[in-house]
Amino acid sequence: MGQVVGIDLGTTNSLVATLREGRPEIVPNRSGRRMTPSVVGLDRTGKLVVGDAARAQLASAPERTVAEAKRLMGSGEAVRLGDRTYSPQEISGLVLRALKQDAEHHLGTTIDEAVVTVPAYFTDAQRQATKDAGELAGFKVERILNEPTAAALAYGLDRLDDEALVLVYDLGGGTFDVSVLEMFKGVLDVKASAGNNRLGGGDFDRRVAAHLRQRIEAEQGVDLAADPVALARLVVAAEQAKAELSSAELVTVSLPFLCAKAGAPVSVELELSRAKLEELIGDLVRSTLGPVEQALKDAKVAEKDVSAIVLVGGSSRIPLVRRIVAERFGKDPRGGVHPDEAVALGAAVQAGLKSGALSAKTGIMITDICPYSLGVEVSKRAGSQLVDGIFSPIIPRNSTIPVSRTEIYSTTSDGQAQVDIKVFQGEDRLVRNDVFLDQYRVDGIPPSGAGAERVAVTFTYDVNGILHVKTKVVSTGKEAVLRVERSAQRMTPPERAAAKARLDEEWVKAPGAPAASVRPEGSVSAVDAAPGAPAPSVRPEPFDSAPTAPVLRSGQEKSKDASPASGAEADELRALAQAARARSAGAPAPVADRLERLASELERALDAGDPAGAASAGAELTDVLFDLG
Ligand SMILES: Nc1ncnc2c1ncn2[C@@H]1O[C@H](COP(=O)(O)OP(=O)(O)OP(=O)(O)O)[C@@H](O)[C@H]1O
Ligand SMILES: [Mg+2]
Repeated sequence: MGQVVGIDLGTTNSLVATLREGRPEIVPNRSGRRMTPSVVGLDRTGKLVVGDAARAQLASAPERTVAEAKRLMGSGEAVRLGDRTYSPQEISGLVLRALKQDAEHHLGTTIDEAVVTVPAYFTDAQRQATKDAGELAGFKVERILNEPTAAALAYGLDRLDDEALVLVYDLGGGTFDVSVLEMFKGVLDVKASAGNNRLGGGDFDRRVAAHLRQRIEAEQGVDLAADPVALARLVVAAEQAKAELSSAELVTVSLPFLCAKAGAPVSVELELSRAKLEELIGDLVRSTLGPVEQALKDAKVAEKDVSAIVLVGGSSRIPLVRRIVAERFGKDPRGGVHPDEAVALGAAVQAGLKSGALSAKTGIMITDICPYSLGVEVSKRAGSQLVDGIFSPIIPRNSTIPVSRTEIYSTTSDGQAQVDIKVFQGEDRLVRNDVFLDQYRVDGIPPSGAGAERVAVTFTYDVNGILHVKTKVVSTGKEAVLRVERSAQRMTPPERAAAKARLDEEWVKAPGAPAASVRPEGSVSAVDAAPGAPAPSVRPEPFDSAPTAPVLRSGQEKSKDASPASGAEADELRALAQAARARSAGAPAPVADRLERLASELERALDAGDPAGAASAGAELTDVLFDLG
């Protein structure tokens, strides 16, 4: 049997780790380096290059080199390399392929399975894309593990007897995650995670590059807009200067023959100070404190109770980052884990737990959470109208995983035979501000009066952070198992097989890529379209729910516009606000506050001509009044 390894598939760098005699260790790549740049390119002859070789051509051949593809995962955006086009999964798949091959070379064994880490705040689509990337690389992604959780495993492994409340702050090249964990006798319990999956060192580089460009253009009287190579060189120089400023106070940025002016080459030398860097990136660094607050709040812990702050990710080396975190907590963050390697090492620990090489009984155990709420779109009654587009969470964020929850909804119209389920992820009361995941149709509902039929919707969020949906028509017991696989950017099995065949073919042509690494497509896990899933052209009709008597709207029924378009509807909502105010008089203080707040919100939205806002506040008010009886 092949070996199970842990892989940190990073925005900037990727690492592989494995267990040796119960200890995780990094597996170096073919050049003996511990980190492999997550960069893919085509060389001059059109061959694929990955890692250091690709990174080396990033500045000279930006049109056929791609970095930071992780940022595009799950977006469906195409990546151009020269005259070819790849999906983000394919690019990540190529990075993983190179990692797998180098690790196989080093370990002298095949790798068929891996634990791959993702930012805790990665969405369902991004996680699915990561699984696809693994399959395109020729191995099974045995487990998707959250990066801060992996870092905590690496941290906890050396402190099995500690009791502590740990905050992991992971600022990498493209993503930021924060997790709060409780550690007790080798059991690590993730309490809450928050983050921003579009913030990292790459953003700092772009800020610095823009600043350098401005100075160069002003001082030299040149325009770099039409010079992609010069712009790419600026980003590379910016990254280097930024990293050097973590230890130096002042650096010189040297860019010989950066561009041409009136036919003559222009070379540039500029000084950049740490103070200037801090001015350029200060707001971005400070913005990480938002998710920190949220994670503390969600975990219901006060900052004084946090006993260890573990910084990971290359960007955590920036002195400003350490300073801001130290100021926030009134104490210095701890060392104790390697900022670049902890995530991969933790992934190897998880791989060891999975394969049995590490025993949970004698060692370490971890429980993780779902970092965002998952639910469905519903309509709610506001006064006498039904308002669409309301988010009804089924699994609240920070639930310990695996988790399974069921909500029951009922039909809304006479003879309603089917119902559409639209799945969202997020925290906003309006689905338009949440992330759409997928949609399904449930049919075969026996004809009956409005509200008489009920459908139970069960969400199960597995240990990989992937959602499974099950529905059951209560009266008939008819069940359908639906997996969130059809999200817009998810590859279908035939697409994945075709993509893999193409990569296999291109890969054999790549320098140093032995054909032995190319495996025929085996049995790809079944991801067929869910039974009853609607054709993509079907406009999903939302269904309708109130907390005590949720209702599902028919697929055929024309959905009512969420906007209280007519004056009559607006009047009705104003009356609702007034009723709420009147009712608040005798209500307990917290309820009265809520009624007042919602009434004001509703009136403000009506005054501002914001129909969706009014509808949402109106719907919530109706709920509160309903609960009051
Ligand atoms: N000494 C340093 N000072 C400042 N920044 C640094 C330093 N060393 C590395 N970095 C930055 O760290 C980032 C890479 O960090 P890391 O390898 O942890 O990210 P990643 O794992 O690839 O990304 P992510 O975890 O966001 O997907 C880059 O932006 C790099 O410029
Ligand atoms: Mg990372």
